[in-house]
Amino acid sequence: MNRKITIAIDGYSSCGKSTMARALARRIGYVYIDTGAMYRAVTLYCLRSGLYSGGKLDTAALEKGIGGINITLTHDASTGGIITMLNGDNVEREIRTMEVSTHVSEVASLPFVRTALTEQQRSIGRDGGVVMDGRDIGTTVFPKAELKIFVTASAAVRARRRYLELQAKGEKADYDAILRNVEQRDYLDTHREVSPLRQAPDAVVLDNSELTPEQQDAWLLARYNEVTEGK
Ligand code: DC
Repeated sequence: MNRKITIAIDGYSSCGKSTMARALARRIGYVYIDTGAMYRAVTLYCLRSGLYSGGKLDTAALEKGIGGINITLTHDASTGGIITMLNGDNVEREIRTMEVSTHVSEVASLPFVRTALTEQQRSIGRDGGVVMDGRDIGTTVFPKAELKIFVTASAAVRARRRYLELQAKGEKADYDAILRNVEQRDYLDTHREVSPLRQAPDAVVLDNSELTPEQQDAWLLARYNEVTEGK
């Protein structure tokens, strides 16, 4: 059997990274880890715990309390998906709301938050056999990952996908607000001081603006086969 490798999938928000990462993991029998869900869960914790007051985050209180935030990603046997748990609560739905999306970049820019989550991600992926998606997996979390993909698509294409996703879930969706959110997150993700989103020199770029999900899945599987052949 092939040795289990580490697969890092980084890129802009709403690029379809998690869909392709999840599909690949299922196909090859790897564990899928959505690191964005972990940053979203910390953000939800801040919102729930009243750490935002007048739109301002009490970072000192978050730093003090971060050790008590327990995030786990569990497998949902009924849907084959992943459920994000925050201190024992299923928050999978709540972490995808616009309110969390609006605040998450700020939380994700805090060095002590990144240190805590990076540590947890390294521990989960220690033995390989993981497909991990995020912004800094191939650059910071697993710089030695055997396969690194950098995903991109135009902001308009991504905003439209996000709009359709929210609509399908029966949630309120305003295309212009979503586009602004996508552009703002691109800016914040690429300009933060610690682990900004950037392409690792050895990453393979995938622009999926014009690809169907099936074409994208086939492309990704081909990259995986290239790397694992002969291992
Ligand atoms: O992939 P996503 O949109 O669910 O990620 C939510 C936010 O978390 C995103 O704005 C950037 C941040 N993030 C990060 O900084 N590092 C990661 N490895 C994953 C996500």
